Amino acid sequence: MRLFKIILAVFAAVVVGGCALLGPVAPPVTPAMTVASGTPAATLNAGREIFSTRCTTCHNADPVRAYDADDWRRIVGRMAARSKLQPAERAALLAYVTAAQEPSARAAR
Ligand code: HEC
Repeated sequence: MRLFKIILAVFAAVVVGGCALLGPVAPPVTPAMTVASGTPAATLNAGREIFSTRCTTCHNADPVRAYDADDWRRIVGRMAARSKLQPAERAALLAYVTAAQEPSARAAR
């Protein structure tokens, strides 16, 4: 019984800790981001998905807000080919990382 509680505690810590970690790295899409970027939430969510899956095969993802929009245009320009992104995937990724820079999206965090 004691062992079960310990396992449960470790499991809970991993789940809660994991979510807390992904938040600042790839913040969830907010209504403020869709309004400010003029991009549908579905596209931004697709970009976020690409960022947290396709872009983490070689290295951990740097937090989206570690770079500004201009940096991201340059970085995605170099990294999209490494992830073999299709043009639409690349556009969705860029839309997400730049939308996450919007001041209103930051405020909504
Ligand atoms: C095939 C492996 C690979 C994939 C896939 C990959 N990267 Fe990278 N990435 C690297 C390497 C190697 C470096 C460091 C050296 C360099 O910059 O070329 C790097 C560096 C970076 C940096 C550091 C900043 C900089 O300018 O160097 C960022 C940010 C980054 N990658 C983002 C991404 C994103 C976003 C994606 C998804 C589109 C991605 N990476 C996919 C290999 C990869």
